[in-house]
Amino acid sequence: MVLVLPAGGKALSGDKLLDALVAAAVKQGDFEHKAGQTLYLHQAAGMNCARLLLVSAKDGSAKAFRSALNAALAALKGRAVRHLAVVLAGAQPDATHAESLALALENAHYVYRHTKPSAVAAKAPVKVSLLCDTSAHAAVKAGLKQGEAIAAGVTLARECANRPGNHCTPTWLGEEAQRMGKANGLKVKVLDRKAIEKLGMGSFLSVSRGSDEPPRFIVIEYQGASKTEAPVVLVGKGITFDTGGISLKPAPEMDEMKYDMGGAASVLGTLRAVAELKPKLNVVGLIPTCENMPSGRATKPGDVVVSMSGQTIEVLNTDAEGRLILCDALTYAERYKPAAVVDVATLTGAIIIALGNHQAGLFASDDALAEQLLAASRTAQDPCWRMPLDEEYDEGLKSHYADMANVGSRAGGSITAAKFLQRFTGKFPWAHLDVAGVAHRSGAAKGATGRPVGLLTHFVLARARKA
Ligand code: BES
Ligand code: MN
Ligand code: ZN
Repeated sequence: MVLVLPAGGKALSGDKLLDALVAAAVKQGDFEHKAGQTLYLHQAAGMNCARLLLVSAKDGSAKAFRSALNAALAALKGRAVRHLAVVLAGAQPDATHAESLALALENAHYVYRHTKPSAVAAKAPVKVSLLCDTSAHAAVKAGLKQGEAIAAGVTLARECANRPGNHCTPTWLGEEAQRMGKANGLKVKVLDRKAIEKLGMGSFLSVSRGSDEPPRFIVIEYQGASKTEAPVVLVGKGITFDTGGISLKPAPEMDEMKYDMGGAASVLGTLRAVAELKPKLNVVGLIPTCENMPSGRATKPGDVVVSMSGQTIEVLNTDAEGRLILCDALTYAERYKPAAVVDVATLTGAIIIALGNHQAGLFASDDALAEQLLAASRTAQDPCWRMPLDEEYDEGLKSHYADMANVGSRAGGSITAAKFLQRFTGKFPWAHLDVAGVAHRSGAAKGATGRPVGLLTHFVLARARKA
């Protein structure tokens, strides 16, 4: 059993034996009421559970609950827990606590094994309970169900993004989308190079030119409402490896550019969660996917390409390729007459300089849409921060040879990138999430995070409730 003690230990469990046990542990200096502190007790006298783990939480919020559970599950790692029962001291858990539990479990038990089968996953318990009064039963059950669906989406996103570039190719990503769609009752269409050419996606194709791997354009449709209802369209950047192209990136840490399809992975994961939760809303996922490679055929700095919208682009830097594939996907989105379009992309290093690795960057041409995404990010505990889109930032994109250049100056780089995209979004409310800082971690904890599947799923669910 895991006992979560919020607010500096002021909250009691209500159980005499347990409360005395906690008080004694504190008195004897074995446990401290400090967020994240744990105490493991094996077969504590008088308790009819094999293990008791005390964990301190900052307060009673779902967010504090989730970090406390992360600490608790880390402390239980390697122990043969079969049935995990969680108690929140001093308060009734609600749906948000329950969802937090499901996500903490995903976090504790996910292990990447595809190219390293020797990696062993911590055994997940066969049964998990969150103890509550009968009055809270329905909410907790619903929260667990929602949390499990989101967790499955997060796992799928991590599983895709963690795969190395020689495994996760555009072709594989298309096949994976088809598998996911089939398993979850979604309509999936994968367009090949010929079809992409036919659509006139000259900007997207200019990025793919240098690679021997053929590009794909993936379309996923979830129908939860009448066909006539305008859908929410999610667009994910699917660069399966970003070398920078002819504007080649430096060697250190270039391996991490396999994560440059993190936006695409989060769109796949979100549609997986949505298919399970069945909100009454239509959702479309669009994924342009290719490699960005240098070669004799690759696009060169100064080349001018024609986007699907007809606008021409001077490619001054082939490493600013994300916007070049996204702009054609945004134009493709027009055919759905969407109620809203949100694109998700590991778009700029500059957003990492601005916001670090905690908050994603949110850009939106529509205030109501921005508010909805911010609200979703709070309830999902998947934070993002709104960035500006003043027209002054657009000036850097002027070109002598085309309607626009694909880069401006270094200053405010994530904003000029967003301004570039905005030029293709005149026909619908639009928002853009720059997730370069949050979709994966570097260093010792290197790996995909599955963000922002939580944010996007909550956004879709909230829109369905309002529709
Ligand atoms: N995929 C990168 C952005 C990125 C950087 C993601 C670091 C994750 C971690 C993107 O395609 C890119 O290379 N952007 C350039 C844009 C520049 C050339 C205007 C960048 O940020 O340096
Ligand atoms: Mn790049
Ligand atoms: Zn990139």
